[in-house]
Amino acid sequence: MQLRSTAAFTAALISTLLFLLPSATVNAHNITSILNKFPDFSTFNHYLTLTHLADDINNRQTITVCAVDNAGMADLLSKHLSIYAMKNVLSLHVLLDYFGAKKLHQITNGTALAATMFQATGTATGSAGFVNITDLRGGKVGFGSENSGKTDATFVKSLQEVPYNISVIQISSTLPSVEAEAPVPEPAEVNITSLMSAHGCRNFAEALLASDAMKTYADNIDGGLSVFCPLDDAFKGFAPKFKNLTVAGKQSLLEYHGVPVYQSMSMLKSSNGLMNTLATDGAEKYDFTVQNDGQDVTIKTKLVTAKIVGTLIDQQPLIIFTINKVLLPEELFKNALSPAPAPAPEADAPVADSPKASKKKKHKSTPAPASSESPADSPDGAVADQEADGSGAPQIKGFPLGVLGLMLWFGWLVV
Ligand SMILES: *[C@@H]1O[C@H](CO)[C@@H](O)[C@H](O)[C@H]1NC(C)=O
Ligand SMILES: *[C@@H]1O[C@H](CO)[C@@H](O)[C@H](O)[C@H]1NC(C)=O
Ligand SMILES: *[C@@H]1O[C@H](CO)[C@@H](O)[C@H](O)[C@H]1NC(C)=O
Ligand SMILES: *[C@@H]1O[C@H](CO)[C@@H](O)[C@H](O)[C@H]1NC(C)=O
Ligand SMILES: *[C@@H]1O[C@H](CO)[C@@H](O)[C@H](O)[C@H]1NC(C)=O
Ligand SMILES: *[C@@H]1O[C@H](CO)[C@@H](O)[C@H](O)[C@H]1NC(C)=O
Repeated sequence: MQLRSTAAFTAALISTLLFLLPSATVNAHNITSILNKFPDFSTFNHYLTLTHLADDINNRQTITVCAVDNAGMADLLSKHLSIYAMKNVLSLHVLLDYFGAKKLHQITNGTALAATMFQATGTATGSAGFVNITDLRGGKVGFGSENSGKTDATFVKSLQEVPYNISVIQISSTLPSVEAEAPVPEPAEVNITSLMSAHGCRNFAEALLASDAMKTYADNIDGGLSVFCPLDDAFKGFAPKFKNLTVAGKQSLLEYHGVPVYQSMSMLKSSNGLMNTLATDGAEKYDFTVQNDGQDVTIKTKLVTAKIVGTLIDQQPLIIFTINKVLLPEELFKNALSPAPAPAPEADAPVADSPKASKKKKHKSTPAPASSESPADSPDGAVADQEADGSGAPQIKGFPLGVLGLMLWFGWLVV
């Protein structure tokens, strides 16, 4: 008996620790605090934060940031680029590989092409997202945007190296790139359906265009909109069920894939929890749970767990992710839920509607289809303890877990 409880405690302790571990390793480095130590780089640092590139950098491993000092940034600032173009330019200065000072001087065959974060956005065409690194005579190392075909800047010094996680180096000037500096349409001017169609989500885009949900999406872009867009394979497989829905049901299903607040990938990673959607409307909860799974971020409904597989656009206040499955809200597909013996009675406390969602409420002509009864009697108590906090923002349920961990730890010590 004693033995069994010890084993149980240990097992629980281990699983608790395993659960807590990922969040501890997500941010192994912080580019903002690294650069804070170098006042000469305050401008570069400021723009990394302003464009949210800092978040993306912190979320990556094996990366090189080519920083430019305040004097070197003057040229770029004089171009008065929009914040979106600025983001593209700076993302060309983030190499998706680790280049410390030593490695730079030992490049095989004296030259290498490095993919950059600009290339990773999908905005760059052809070779525009690559930087050419060349070991020049006299021990110098040159950097050039691949399209310019010449050396634009040279290596000055290493600022900080954390092998092989992040290398922050100084280069002599910014890398010019016609493509990165090109005007970027404001998020409100982006045709989101043609963007989706061009990047593997044609079926979802066509469904949006045929529904009033399109207007809901358009109305929300200015105030913040995150879209989780199912890839074509997923949406094609779902087509028979989608056709079966009423017009209002289709609209709710599509609106269920949008959240009326901007949530970058790193924001999603660092704040797991329940989220309201564009379909949330009072008693109609239409919410889902965001949860990390190792390096991945998953979206869980009671019926399906989808994984974020890509980002089509990230221009605050608009972000569009691609996901590998269609999100099925229990409000529409309740019958698919297998009945559980003892339904967990969910708290009756009214779930505050997301203020953003309700303020910009769409014009829903008809109530949700008949199959959707009260969503309150969920057979799955798993998320019943996470009520929406009314801000539309995700919640962290770290407190109870921490307490549980502590209790388990003491239990283990005592035994
Ligand atoms: C590099 O990153 C990994 C994964 O995030 C982390 O475990 C490791 O401690 C980091 N290395 C250093 C030297 O910070
Ligand atoms: C990184 O450091 C800055 C300044 O030191 C801090 O404001 C910010 O919250 C940190 N970011 C993370 C993700 O810890
Ligand atoms: C280096 O050059 C040799 C001979 O030209 C070639 O076979 C090899 O693939 C090159 N290595 C790299 C990494 O480019
Ligand atoms: C980089 O540019 C130099 C000079 O323009 C060129 O000789 C070299 O082949 C380029 N390197 C790569 C890997 O394309
Ligand atoms: C966006 O593009 C689609 C074609 O993909 C077109 O049907 C639609 O009218 C466009 N929307 C706007 C607002 O221009
Ligand atoms: C469509 O609805 C009918 C009637 O409710 C049902 O019998 C059928 O299984 C549904 N088809 C799909 C693909 O969900």
